[in-house]
Amino acid sequence: MGLNFSRRNFLKTSALVAGASTVGGCTSGPLTLGKSNMCGFAAPKIDKIRVAIIGLGNRGSAAVQRLMKIADLEIVALSDLREAQVKKSNQLLIDAGLKPAKEFHAGPDDYKKICEMDIDLVYCCTSWEYHTPIAVYAMKHGSHTATELPAGKTIDELWELVETSEATKKHCMMLENTCYDFFELNSLNMVRHGVFGEITHAEGAYIHTIVKYISGETESYYKNWRLDENTGVHGSLYPTHGLGPVAQCMNINRGNQFDYMVSMSSQEAAFSEFTRQHKRPDLLRENYRGDMNTSIIKTTLGQTIMVQHDVSTPRPYSRIHMLQGSRGMLRKYPREEYALISDHDGHGWLDEEAKNALEEKYKHPLIKTMGDIAQKVGGHGGMDFMMDYRLIYCLKNGLALDQDVYDAASWSSIIPLSIDSVAKRSASLDVPDFTRGNWKTNKPLGIVDVNPKKLRLHDTTQAKGQLNVH
Ligand SMILES: NC(=O)c1ccc[n+]([C@@H]2O[C@H](COP(=O)([O-])OP(=O)(O)OC[C@H]3O[C@@H](n4cnc5c(N)ncnc54)[C@H](O)[C@@H]3O)[C@@H](O)[C@H]2O)c1
Repeated sequence: MGLNFSRRNFLKTSALVAGASTVGGCTSGPLTLGKSNMCGFAAPKIDKIRVAIIGLGNRGSAAVQRLMKIADLEIVALSDLREAQVKKSNQLLIDAGLKPAKEFHAGPDDYKKICEMDIDLVYCCTSWEYHTPIAVYAMKHGSHTATELPAGKTIDELWELVETSEATKKHCMMLENTCYDFFELNSLNMVRHGVFGEITHAEGAYIHTIVKYISGETESYYKNWRLDENTGVHGSLYPTHGLGPVAQCMNINRGNQFDYMVSMSSQEAAFSEFTRQHKRPDLLRENYRGDMNTSIIKTTLGQTIMVQHDVSTPRPYSRIHMLQGSRGMLRKYPREEYALISDHDGHGWLDEEAKNALEEKYKHPLIKTMGDIAQKVGGHGGMDFMMDYRLIYCLKNGLALDQDVYDAASWSSIIPLSIDSVAKRSASLDVPDFTRGNWKTNKPLGIVDVNPKKLRLHDTTQAKGQLNVH
């Protein structure tokens, strides 16, 4: 039996029960425990969505460039610790003939002033430590919130997100863009149509040699925060890119649950090798995270999911994205491939013609409607804009979001659980049921689409300045 991170354990320590929330230094008024179920929750329609973007580094400044393409949206506040980053993003709005946003760059607590403004959506792209405090403060002050990955770093933080979203009836979406990548969307459609039969196993990963970036050798993370995150702990620090899309295929939190998990880490060698090869003794540390972490999750319906994390070893990028079922399987990396029982000799993959026919037959409707424009706007080949457009579309039209607070919490929970499991010689740990039993009746995510008439983009022919959706 696994060690237990049950809600009861959380409640013993939760500041919410005591009447005030203090986790992450974010203190606000008392909240009663929420009883509502945020899965499938639709908030009232918002005609023009007022957005604040907090954290304007690599990711946040790209988000500004995508979101400003949406006409039914106004970027009203921009915030970063660095004034120059705020000015740079605001200049983009000005150059495009849009109203400039209010600027915030006085310090890390500026988000409180922003959340106290009249904002519909707080879109957070800061480093990890601020994700939960900002999301919680935003919801308590009346905004929906969308946060970069991960949603939180501890089990307590994740429960705080769930409790706050339920109590305030505000959306809390984690911006897991890989769920909107084209191959992954098609996979979900194929799984829903039973192409692979009963799904029994999946694999996902974040294998990305970012040691150059996180050490500041090339494009850097502000003050090397990501290198610090990779120091002193052993676990799966960024599981949701690989986990999100397969969790949706397996209906996690909607008919199925992560039940328990185990985790194991290799020793560290690649970080140290990097510091030697690049003559960076200043970066040499004794306690870098072990290079490869492998975690395995068992679901309530019996499936297994392997999740890997490695950001230091020199090897090609991979999220694996493998789904295996009784009638066949697919995988995305290193090459997009399918194998089907109807056409299988025990060795090969579907040939190119059969593969193309399969993809055409099960092309996800969102790709048919938005794929071309998303690719033109960009962001990881278009998936970022697909995600943003669908998020804003749901807010504008009063629809439930595709990813809710339970997804954010359960997918992110693999971080603290893996760290704990590794520290306990790969002990088996229960994954908390953040839905508190509602997973049994929550409806699976549908095959969603949008009607472009119901969320307008800026018209290139009329827009002033450089704003153009080609
Ligand atoms: N979904 C994806 O594909 C993807 C890709 C890259 C990064 N990310 C995530 O995006 C987030 C940001 O990563 P990045 O690469 O942009 O890092 P970055 O270091 O380039 O940017 C982070 C920015 O946040 C600012 N910041 C930190 N604390 C703040 C606060 N309290 N208030 C205002 N600003 C604050 C910093 O000044 C910095 O400019 C991380 O969570 C990362 O995991 C996601």
